[in-house]
Amino acid sequence: SFPNCEAVLDVIYNPLRTPLLLQAKEKGLKFTGGLYMLVSQAAQAARHFCNEEISDEKVEEVFRSLALSVQNIVLVGMPGSGKTTIGREIAAKTGRKLIDTDDIIVERAKMSIPEIFEKYGEAHFRKLECEVIADFAKEKELIIATGGGAVMNRLNSDALSENGRIYYIKRDTSTLATKGRPLSKNTDKLQEMFKMRDPI
Ligand code: S3P
Repeated sequence: SFPNCEAVLDVIYNPLRTPLLLQAKEKGLKFTGGLYMLVSQAAQAARHFCNEEISDEKVEEVFRSLALSVQNIVLVGMPGSGKTTIGREIAAKTGRKLIDTDDIIVERAKMSIPEIFEKYGEAHFRKLECEVIADFAKEKELIIATGGGAVMNRLNSDALSENGRIYYIKRDTSTLATKGRPLSKNTDKLQEMFKMRDPI
């Protein structure tokens, strides 16, 4: 509703990207959250009250390292593309905790994914998936490996964007793993899925 708006600043810094900023992003506007302000005012307070010398470069450096260290690393991609495996590797290298949303769903439902699909259908699975994502997307410093279909629900990708940077693991459909995945039974199905999901 603001046709001349060029940029959006939201002084909230938790989450890093608020829904307002995500709207700005979608409209192609420049946007930033409140983390830079938070760091700058801390520097200013230290200069003012403690006579500390803090350069603007230092403020920039602290902001960048803070922004990188709190952000979740979110892995999305086709089923069987290696999101969990890559997530485990990053967890081992960084010491961060890995959350595999499919594992949490299985834990909460006390049954396997094929069983959930068979007993209650895909819609029920998607509801559980959405709840798990909403719970963990709010946290910080996690590695979140999502199920291949998670990005198809806008609520999920918005929630994951608030505190996370999303990485798309792209792999040729002919090399995707299919074991234990009720929706990816054969190459044709996978191709069809890829066509729908890849642009998203
Ligand atoms: C699905 C992918 C699976 C799992 C469920 C649905 C999908 O996760 O969430 O079977 O719609 O692509 P992976 O991507 O880890 O295989």
